[in-house]
Amino acid sequence: MVDLKYIGHSAFEFKTKDKSILVDPFVSHNEKYDYNKSNIVDIFVTHGHADHLGEAVEIAKAKKAVITAIPEVAAYCTSKKCKTRPVGLGSWINYDWGRAIFLPAYHSSSLPDGSYGGVAASILFDIEGVRIFHAGDTCLTPDFKTYKEIYRPNIALLPIGGNYTMDVEHAVVAADWLGAKTVIPMHYNTFPEIQADLNRFAQLMQVNNTNCAILNPAEIKQD
Ligand code: NI
Ligand code: MN
Repeated sequence: MVDLKYIGHSAFEFKTKDKSILVDPFVSHNEKYDYNKSNIVDIFVTHGHADHLGEAVEIAKAKKAVITAIPEVAAYCTSKKCKTRPVGLGSWINYDWGRAIFLPAYHSSSLPDGSYGGVAASILFDIEGVRIFHAGDTCLTPDFKTYKEIYRPNIALLPIGGNYTMDVEHAVVAADWLGAKTVIPMHYNTFPEIQADLNRFAQLMQVNNTNCAILNPAEIKQD
């Protein structure tokens, strides 16, 4: 069974019995999170923006973990002496814990040094049979209807903060289109321009008969 921890912003740790996977590891803003306590083997980055790339380079080096990302983002990490796996959109990539596929996100991508980051991505994970869709930064897109049909995600991690991504109202539609039974909001309240009304999101989600799990990063407990 995969254990999902919300680190904050768009950062998550997916923990299997003996391995951990980090997604968009902007972990520095959560002082309670200590990556040294986890056996991190793989790091996924949806796009090059600093709030998603986060501390990927530092963690990958410390944990000898591999960064999987779009080629431009991977090349940047390689230049920083990290092990990487460059991938494009649209193909299952296999790992010993399962598989993942990079899908389009409607957003931009640049690296901390200003260089072009290639396309932005959403990532769908299949970990021990549980399908988790991490939307990255994106707007609402009818692609989600196709993902419901093809991938049948169980859990959807959706940005709700607006301004750079979809907002509460669009995320509610996204949840419906994706058909995931559990939806976890992300990418809100970290910065002044992405404030979101969580109660409103939860209320609107109830109408859809979806389990809206609002995870509080402050409550992270690590064993
Ligand atoms: Ni971004
Ligand atoms: Mn972002």
